[in-house]
Parts: sequence; structure tokens; C-alpha cells
Amino acid sequence: MIGSLMDSPLGPQMALSAELSQDVEVFILGMQQQTPGCGSLLDAGILAEDVVDELLARLVAVGATGALGEVIRVAAPSSLPVRSVLAVGLGEGDVPTERLRQAAGLASRTLVGVGSAASALSMIDLAAAAEGHFLGAYAFNHYRTTLCEDAAKQPIARVELLIPETPDDEASSVLARSLAIAGAVATARNLVNTPPNHLDPAGLAAEAQVLGIGAGLSVEVLDEKALERDGFGGIIGVGKGSSRPPRLVRMAYNCGVPHAKKVALVGKGVTFDSGGISIKPATNMDAMTADMAGAAAVIASVALAAKLELRLDVTATIPMAENMPSATAQRPGDVLTQYGGTTVVVLNTDAEGRLILADAIVRACEDGPDYMIDVATLTGAQSIALGRRTPGVMGSVEFRDRVARISQAVGENAWPMPFPTELRADLNSTIADLANVTNHSSGGMLSAGLFLQEFVADGIQWAHLDVAGPAYNTEEPWGYTSRGATGVPVRTIIAVLESLADEHSPAVDSVI
Ligand code: BES
Ligand code: ZN
Ligand code: ZN
Repeated sequence: MIGSLMDSPLGPQMALSAELSQDVEVFILGMQQQTPGCGSLLDAGILAEDVVDELLARLVAVGATGALGEVIRVAAPSSLPVRSVLAVGLGEGDVPTERLRQAAGLASRTLVGVGSAASALSMIDLAAAAEGHFLGAYAFNHYRTTLCEDAAKQPIARVELLIPETPDDEASSVLARSLAIAGAVATARNLVNTPPNHLDPAGLAAEAQVLGIGAGLSVEVLDEKALERDGFGGIIGVGKGSSRPPRLVRMAYNCGVPHAKKVALVGKGVTFDSGGISIKPATNMDAMTADMAGAAAVIASVALAAKLELRLDVTATIPMAENMPSATAQRPGDVLTQYGGTTVVVLNTDAEGRLILADAIVRACEDGPDYMIDVATLTGAQSIALGRRTPGVMGSVEFRDRVARISQAVGENAWPMPFPTELRADLNSTIADLANVTNHSSGGMLSAGLFLQEFVADGIQWAHLDVAGPAYNTEEPWGYTSRGATGVPVRTIIAVLESLADEHSPAVDSVI
């Protein structure tokens, strides 16, 4: 699969335009809800007043109100150069960025089978509309052989974004940034959506290598022999039940700016989590193809950091393994030695993520980063605590809160979670330095985070993101979120990196 998946377009072609051109099929515009049952169109002055009146009458006649989540398509008045008009409900009052992003995503998702559309949502916020339209058009049809030729089932191929003035460099760079970000989200989605028989640890490592080299990064892959030799006991322990050996990938983006801050990213790359000998129940076990979503997010993010030429040095340390039961699998009761020497008794082989992450965290700390963000589909307890759309973020209090704030601003909505001190003692063991689980299920997301904290070196600002629920949508599509992989938390990571780069920009320092 190497290369082939990543070569296909990740989303629709997008362009800027100051006017509604002749060759688009559908015109997308927002509809605001006013008094119940009555809406107004946000055409931003593109249309003549009488055309707006006629359109509104047509829409209202078929029940359009402008309510949030509403999407209604009508034939266009003859004075418009398009065939139909799609009105997307924006709800009442001001339109926050995320609401616009979701509306644009919904519009793209609705236009399956349409070749091209022009959107007026970009008149309100170009970046949000571009991201939403791009992400909403995402579809993973790689393994559907009968769908290939069926144009009626293809995602929208081209979206023209309308803006108030003739496109200039500034508008082009806003669009380029949005497309780079949305493209990274789609890359992460593709990796996560690839089935586990088509993406094993070596395959994921190869994809990381292709992407990383393409982005100008240095990439190093440790195979199972190197992992054994160097004492990566967590990765070896988890990987040894599988016939497909584990890997540790290291990707590095060096910005070339002297004294740039260093950020370490770490992502859980379990290409399939059966639970191992502590095997999972059969129901929904297929969703464990997404247990490498942390790895996918981190791979896409470090490549994006390079593309955006952020003034930071960024490394990604990505442990990859397949967690399988077999005669060679690790057993409950085994004691393994993590990279760096800490011993851990494996009481439950299904708590494997923290074992591979502990090795990777210790390795990543050796580079002396200022900040570390680890990302993992770590615990079922995450969605029990926060639901399926809200990642939990733990770690160094100040940095944790900053990551949560930024995540909420970009619409990924991570929420800060505590490390209750009394839980730490429940990870003590009489036979080893630590146990990989507590003997109870209270605060499962937090005790997993506390386990990881043991491996983070002092003085590093650390944030741990548990995205077990939010990384993979097993329900109906909504807004810009398709079924399957969501790409969460790529946009959080990149926004955090941008914020750190801005804060520590040497250009700013020299002025102060
Ligand atoms: N990969 C799972 C966590 C998970 C669950 C991700 C549901 C996505 C959806 C993880 O490896 C795991 O199995 N965790 C256990 C930990 C337990 C044994 C302490 C869990 O959450 O049940
Ligand atoms: Zn597990
Ligand atoms: Zn897992």
C-alpha cells in the first residue's frame, strides 16, 4: 500500500473567486434563523435584491428556516448562472467560527455526486469555510471497487470560495494554510481508516517514512532487533504476540533557527488492539483498527509543522505494535523492563498503550524538549467520562490548560482533567516498580495518565491527550466529521505548535 494511499487526492480542489462564475453546478449559502419559521440569506451582497427575495421565497416554501443543521436544496432562479442553490442553516444570532466550519462541512457532505459548487460561506470566514468544506468532502473509498466509476457517489470535486474582493496574496495564503491543515487532517484520517490487515507496524512505519521524507524531515525507523538491542521492553512486550513485528519511528523537523524551542510529539501506534491475552469482547472490536490514531495525528502534524515552516524544532517519537494473543504473547503477570530501566508488571495486556508510550516518552525526553504532547486512544474510560466528542487533556497544569483552551478554539474541544494524588498509589506493585493498571475502574483515564507521568522527565511542560472516543466516529456523520477516522487532534496539535512558535519567535525576543 505504500505511497498509493497517500497519492490520491485528500479532498476537493479549491479556488478563490470574487464572483459567481458560470461553470459551477450549485451555489452554497448560509441561512440565518430569525423569528421562528423565518430566515434570512447571507448572500453578502453577491446577489441582486430581487434574486434574494425570490430565492428566499422558494426556500421558505419548502420549509427552510435557517435552523442549525438544516440543509435544503432548491432549483436556482433563472437569473442565476447555477442550476441549484443549497441553503445551510446557521442558527440564530452571530455565527461562531466552529458553527460555520460545521455548516460548510455539512454542505460539502450533502453534495455527493456534484462536480463543482461555489460557496458564499467564505464571505463570512474564509479559513473556517475552506477547512469545513474540505473536511466535509472527505470520503474513504479506497477499498470499494464498485464505487470507483459511479460519479453519483463521488464526493464533490471542486469548491469555489467566494470572497469580497479580487483574490490577493493575503487571501491566497489564508487558503493555503487552511488547505495544509485540512490536508493533514485527511492524511491522518486515511492512515486510521486503513484496515489493520493492510497496515501493520512496518507498513505504518513505511508510510511515516514516505510522508516524512516528502516533507523534508529526517526519519529513523528502529526494527524489532534494534528495539530488543536497545531495551525497549514495553514495545517488545506488546508486539511479541503478533507475527508482524513492532517498530519505533523517529521523525524530526529542524527549523534552522538558533535557540528555537523544542517540542516532542509522541503518538500511540497500536495498528490493532485485540487486547492480547486479556482479550477484548467481540462487539465493536473492529474499531480497534483506530488504535493508531495518536500515531497518525503526530505523523501528520510533524509533517505539517515543516510545511508551515514553524519556528520550532519538532520531533515525533512513534511506537508501533500490534497487540495480539498467541503462544508468543506476553502474559498477565509478566514483568517487563521499560526503556530507561523502570520495571512494570503487566496485570492486564489490554492496557498496552501506556507500555509502548512509556518507552517512547523516555526516548523523546533524551532530546531535552521544552514541551511534550503525547496523543493516544488510551482508555475506554475517556468516553465514559467525557463522551465521544471531547478529548481529555492531562499533564502539567499550565500547559494542560493552554492546550485545552487552544483545542476549544479550533473546535476539537479537549477538556482539562486532573491527576488526583490518591490514584497514583494504586499503580504501586510489590513485585515491580509499577503495575500497568489499578485493581479498580475508578478514574481509568486519569490512572493511565498518571502511569505515563512517571516517565516524563522533570522540567518538561507536558500534555497528554486521550482521544479514545473522539478519534473515531462509529456513529452517523455530522458537520465536517465523516464516519470512521476524524483526524482529531491534528488541528489542536498544530494550533498549539503555532502558538508556541509565535510566543517564542526569536524575532519577537530580539525586539523585547
Ligand atoms: N485501545 C484501548 C482503549 C480504547 C477503548 C480506545 C475504546 C478506543 C475505544 C486501550 O488499549 C485499552 O484497551 N484500555 C483498557 C484499559 C484497562 C484495561 C485498564 C480499557 O480502556 O478498557
Ligand atoms: Zn488495549
Ligand atoms: Zn489500545
